[in-house]
Amino acid sequence: MTSHLTRHDVVIVGGGGAGLRAAIAIAEADPRLDVAVVSKVYPMRSHTVSAEGGAAAVIGPDDSLDEHAYDTVSGGDWLCDQDAVEAFVAEAPGELLRLERWGCPWSRETDGRVAVRAFGGMKRKRTWFAADKTGFHLLHTLFQTTLKYERIMRYDEWFVTKLLTDDGRVQGVVAIELMSGRIATIAAKAIILCTGGCGRVYPFTTNAGIKTGDAMALAYRAGAPLKDMEFVQYHPTGLPFTGILITEAARAEGGWLLNREGRRYLQDYDLGKPEPGPVLRSMELGPRDRLSQAFVHEAEQGRTIETPYGPVVHLDLRHLDQEIIDARLPFVRELCLKYENIDPVTELIPVRPVVHYMMGGVHTDIDGATPLEGLFAAGEVACVSINGANRLGSNSLPELLVFGARAGRAAAAYAAEATGNASRAVLAQARDEVHRLERDLLLKNGGHESLADLRQEMQHTMEGRAGIYRDGESLAKAAGTLRELRDRFASIALDDHSRTFNTQLTSALELSCMLEVAEAMVACALGREESRGAHQRTDFPARDDQRFLAHSLIHRNPDGSCRVEYLPVTITRWPPGERVYGSTGGGSP
Ligand code: FUM
Repeated sequence: MTSHLTRHDVVIVGGGGAGLRAAIAIAEADPRLDVAVVSKVYPMRSHTVSAEGGAAAVIGPDDSLDEHAYDTVSGGDWLCDQDAVEAFVAEAPGELLRLERWGCPWSRETDGRVAVRAFGGMKRKRTWFAADKTGFHLLHTLFQTTLKYERIMRYDEWFVTKLLTDDGRVQGVVAIELMSGRIATIAAKAIILCTGGCGRVYPFTTNAGIKTGDAMALAYRAGAPLKDMEFVQYHPTGLPFTGILITEAARAEGGWLLNREGRRYLQDYDLGKPEPGPVLRSMELGPRDRLSQAFVHEAEQGRTIETPYGPVVHLDLRHLDQEIIDARLPFVRELCLKYENIDPVTELIPVRPVVHYMMGGVHTDIDGATPLEGLFAAGEVACVSINGANRLGSNSLPELLVFGARAGRAAAAYAAEATGNASRAVLAQARDEVHRLERDLLLKNGGHESLADLRQEMQHTMEGRAGIYRDGESLAKAAGTLRELRDRFASIALDDHSRTFNTQLTSALELSCMLEVAEAMVACALGREESRGAHQRTDFPARDDQRFLAHSLIHRNPDGSCRVEYLPVTITRWPPGERVYGSTGGGSP
């Protein structure tokens, strides 16, 4: 098998919201640059398409950038870098308006103004939405906008397997075309990683099957550190078994969470009582970490409902007008009907916490630059960090726009100055990678370990030992199991040797990435001996700002082991404080 060599000024790995926004930013910043978007799925199938509830950005006269920033910082349990948060809230409204100009059909009030809804942990209504299909409309708008630019070229259904580096900088990628099995070296002056998160490391997740942490692993192997990998967000309302998201918008429109006794149990967890007025403090709109932790306590007290797929509570929309549900939550109704055979207009929806989002990711600065020269990252794959220890719902869509655009502009500036020739060492690395893919995967014979078994063991280890609550003992056991799984991965059985859409090969590549990322998550969780946001250590139940007001940075050593270091959090205006969500307050900037 021969490897083909092509060149582009900038290669973007991933064709979801962040990748497409970055591509447009490059095309606008410097029309001379040619850009390749390399995506393992057709861009409109990227996971951004399934975002439901909305995108936060200040718009109303009763709101302010400081309030959005403060909600984000306190929601993130003070682990957010505040310079990044300030830039984020300032640029988010412009990004959402720009999308409007490009054709995004934001939902409207009857007087024609853009409609906004409440969202968890946001104390003002600032979440723009397009019914409950916001991600679909946002991605579609970006996709059609990229079509205007001739110098944005797409490699649809190509899987990037390696970043090529030499002389301290990235110089290209190796990728397989899934349709043909053709392997190509794509040289580039700059690379932007935009492949999203890694929810599939866990068994119950809202994440699409494609979210397997690919570019986190690629960057980590290439020498870029990962940041804050111990912070995994559970969304409190996923459907049992499938993990399909039932958007927080259902609670924003007035939905209640009920336990087995029919009680709105969140009133028992310091999340206040519903109160009328512009400042939102109601229980179901608390932050996701707190709601998911409350679920665990309800389960421990026997107040959840047992199902074949584990304990659940109920989301109750029955008191809402059918008109509201059909106008603002049509997708929720459709999902419930199709996947649970339940009509939320008249029936209760069973829900449970499911893994939804990685706060951690590839360490970047405020312009998406990683410590590895020429390598940038944006969106969920990256950790800028605006999300700290717990992301607020509806901050991720504006995040991928703001930081996708920033990474695009920074990569364009870098590529305009950089030389374009891949070094001999890089071409030799590419040949080795082609050889590895051929020898170890496509033509491999004789392994005995089942991919499905290894994947399932990894997922159950992560859920059972590195879930909503963890402790030193459970994490140490998880680390041991993951090491064993990595060793066993060397003996996987691959019996499909075809080159056309070889899904077994894709699964093997994805599993190797997930194992790498899972080990990083567990190592960081072991190191952080405190509880903060989504990282709750039962053996260290308190937040410890003395030791851990810091980001964890995990580096991969050449022998495959790792080391964790800490980097101070950037505090600009809001010193660490208490997170308060009840009727007693809520904090303010
Ligand atoms: O519930 C939701 O619609 C999720 C939104 C988000 O994660 O930002």
